[in-house]
Amino acid sequence: MSESPVSPRRRERFDAPISASEVAATRQATYRANVLPPRVFHDRSIFDYEMDNWYAGGWVSVGREENALAPGQYFLASVAGENMIVVRGNDGVLRAFYNVCRHRGAVIVEEACGTAPRFQCPYHAWIYDLDGKLRQPRHTELLEGFDPGEWGLIEARCGVWQGIVYLDLSGDAPALETFLGDVVPNFARFDLGALREAGHFDYDVAANWKALIENYEECYHCPGVHPQLNKITPYNMGEYLPWNGPFIGSYMEVLPEYETLSLSGEAAGRPAIPGMTDEDEKRVYYFAIWPNQLLSLHPDYLMLHWLTPMAPDRTLVRCAWFFDPAEMAKDSFDPSDAIEFWDMTNRQDWHVCELQQQGTRSRAYTAGRYSAIESSVHGFDLMVADRYANDGVITPQHRIAKQASDAALKDRAKSMAKSRAAD
Ligand code: FES
Ligand SMILES: [Fe+2]
Repeated sequence: MSESPVSPRRRERFDAPISASEVAATRQATYRANVLPPRVFHDRSIFDYEMDNWYAGGWVSVGREENALAPGQYFLASVAGENMIVVRGNDGVLRAFYNVCRHRGAVIVEEACGTAPRFQCPYHAWIYDLDGKLRQPRHTELLEGFDPGEWGLIEARCGVWQGIVYLDLSGDAPALETFLGDVVPNFARFDLGALREAGHFDYDVAANWKALIENYEECYHCPGVHPQLNKITPYNMGEYLPWNGPFIGSYMEVLPEYETLSLSGEAAGRPAIPGMTDEDEKRVYYFAIWPNQLLSLHPDYLMLHWLTPMAPDRTLVRCAWFFDPAEMAKDSFDPSDAIEFWDMTNRQDWHVCELQQQGTRSRAYTAGRYSAIESSVHGFDLMVADRYANDGVITPQHRIAKQASDAALKDRAKSMAKSRAAD
């Protein structure tokens, strides 16, 4: 009988090192709630909990299918500290494997992406086929109870939605589209998988991954931090969308005199991507999809951010831009105006996120309050707080204040002042 393990060793799931009572102040109505307790941005045990239970516990976005289209084409991905290979097999199937040799555990593939006919461990040269099967290694013929068929690469679940590749290390998450919920119908009129990457930037940000998503969820900071963005999509012209699923969705309106988010505000001759309605053409959609994907759909391009948490105070971010291949084929195609705009905007965001990371470490800091236009931040924080509490209670959506218009906010402030005066 072989004693080879059939599944990778998994750390036991354990209770969150933060209690329901500690996040109770966040699980209130927005106008009464406190932001998340500061230690969730710094505590190593909380970070480990998030990686073991959330990132290794369900679907996580890792890249684009276009980077593994041909047989043997692969890319590496990091999920909860695990080094994963995503590769297209000779049979056309996209698979994911732990990048760990079954012999004495060396990492097998060192190049971040490429094409390989098979994988050969650099240590003692064990060879694995693209479907993970181990070929009979040298000098193993005499081993007792050793069947190479049982010593292939350890596989993880791999799924694709709209050209985006997801992995599920737990093996027991619901089907990918079930997990994504209403993310799927929200983008059903588009074929985002048909778009192609025109470029990407990698950033190493000294901030907690949750701080980056919170930052993405509000435009309260836009007038001061992003004057260029605020000129094209003013911070108070947006709405968040109803949701049912692991995401927070919203849109910002593009002012009539502009076409898209770029340095010039123009789309450089690019039409809207296929599937856009007239309404879509004047909007930028922002979706934060649990746990690590930011999906920003502009009239003429898609932008994706992948967040890879490395430590409580460090997150690697890849930001990539995708366009209609028909536009990319034209001699006149030049995406630099859009890419440079967002590179500038990204850096502006990382800077304030790093400031938040530094300040929330202070002994003087206690959890602050949400402004009336940070409802989506509260929405994301509730996803976090409910998961820490793990008490079966999903904080109801009506606790999240609807993004109020300026006029409604003024009315509300006036009536509150009146009632205070009457007290
Ligand atoms: S560790 Fe891979 S062949 Fe020895
Ligand atoms: Fe921002």
